[in-house]
Amino acid sequence: MAATKVLVIDDDLNIQRVLVFTLKQEGFEVVVASDGEAGVEMARSAAPDLILMDVAMPKLDGYVATHKIRAAEPAGKRVPIIMLTSEGDVEQRVRGLRAGADDDIVKPFHPLELIARIRALLARSGVGAGATAGGAQTTLGRLCLFYPAKGGVGTTTIAINTGIALARELNRRTLLVDANLQFGDLRVFLDLGLDTASIVNALTEPDLDTELLRNLIVRHHSGLDLLLAPTSPEAADIVVERTRSDPASLTHLLSLARRLYDYTFVDMAKTIDDFNLQLFDEADLIFVVMTADLSCLKNVQLVLRTMDNLGYQRAKVNLVLNRANAYTGINVKNAESVLGRSINYHVINEYRAAISALNSGEPFMSSRPDGPLGRSVSEFAREMDKLTAAELAPAAR
Ligand SMILES: Nc1ncnc2c1ncn2[C@@H]1O[C@H](COP(=O)(O)OP(=O)(O)OP(=O)(O)O)[C@@H](O)[C@H]1O
Ligand SMILES: [Mg+2]
Repeated sequence: MAATKVLVIDDDLNIQRVLVFTLKQEGFEVVVASDGEAGVEMARSAAPDLILMDVAMPKLDGYVATHKIRAAEPAGKRVPIIMLTSEGDVEQRVRGLRAGADDDIVKPFHPLELIARIRALLARSGVGAGATAGGAQTTLGRLCLFYPAKGGVGTTTIAINTGIALARELNRRTLLVDANLQFGDLRVFLDLGLDTASIVNALTEPDLDTELLRNLIVRHHSGLDLLLAPTSPEAADIVVERTRSDPASLTHLLSLARRLYDYTFVDMAKTIDDFNLQLFDEADLIFVVMTADLSCLKNVQLVLRTMDNLGYQRAKVNLVLNRANAYTGINVKNAESVLGRSINYHVINEYRAAISALNSGEPFMSSRPDGPLGRSVSEFAREMDKLTAAELAPAAR
């Protein structure tokens, strides 16, 4: 199978060299143009699958070159273009996107981040399907639910910090959706303002597409992307009504998210209602978050029975024991024998780290990834990443 061809348009020889090296190592075929004019010509003659476009270049700059490439494309063809912009320049980013670019990456970037962006863009534009570098099959990202066996067991803490670990340490594009429709906590945990879009906007937008969805997603500096819960409990009714009358709206939202991200995480509320049942059905993996106390064990038993009744394979439902080494009078072995199955993952107890992260609005995985709690969650993220790689179709890497 032919390798995916990337056209690099950049006048800086050093950047050219780094890009060619990185891309070739990843199995891409690479062609290079050193100014905008040559780039436009090569976009036509070399028929690349994706273009990396610098902004400031001799002859034609990146905006004009992007515009020209778009104008020359035959109907139906739209080669993905990523702009290489300079740090923090919002105007540049907006101009690039207006000129017709699909994504942008700020220089200097980490090569792994660039590769992840390229893969994600190829996957969502459909170009990579069946024709990614090295011939690997590109698949949709995974939908993973974090479902609490009981309130306050640490579901939100684990979802946020696992997401950050995947994004930062494993270079996975990760979206966290807050499906605690009435009392979503992510704004508090991540110190975000109230004036942002929410899942309500995503579910009520009649023509939701990847571009519109991206406008509703909040990017947190930790590397995690977020689709937040509404700011008032009343707005939760809108979501419930909308998904009841049109369940396809939720399916559509999730499938767009899975095209954009390697992982779509959902931080759930405990209720078992139609909305959550639909999430269970759509999910690839469900992580039931629990602690080792009696009421929690009773709930886990009920949840496992419900999942069995729903006909889910055992491997879809995983147990995550939070605060695993806290004294509760019930050890892991006892808990496993009560449940009649093993607990898949453990996260340690470190109250101080967890609570100070919450109070400061800075997740421990971004402020203290090397602390004991950070290492424990990072280990969970790695195991889960390995599990999904093994259990499901291979990821677009
Ligand atoms: N591994 C841990 N060690 C110590 N404390 C933790 C740990 N995980 C979470 N906590 C603490 O437990 C409390 C509840 O955490 P969190 O809000 O994440 O739980 P939740 O299950 O999402 O709760 P809710 O039911 O309110 O949504 C917080 O104070 C958090 O700091
Ligand atoms: Mg929570």
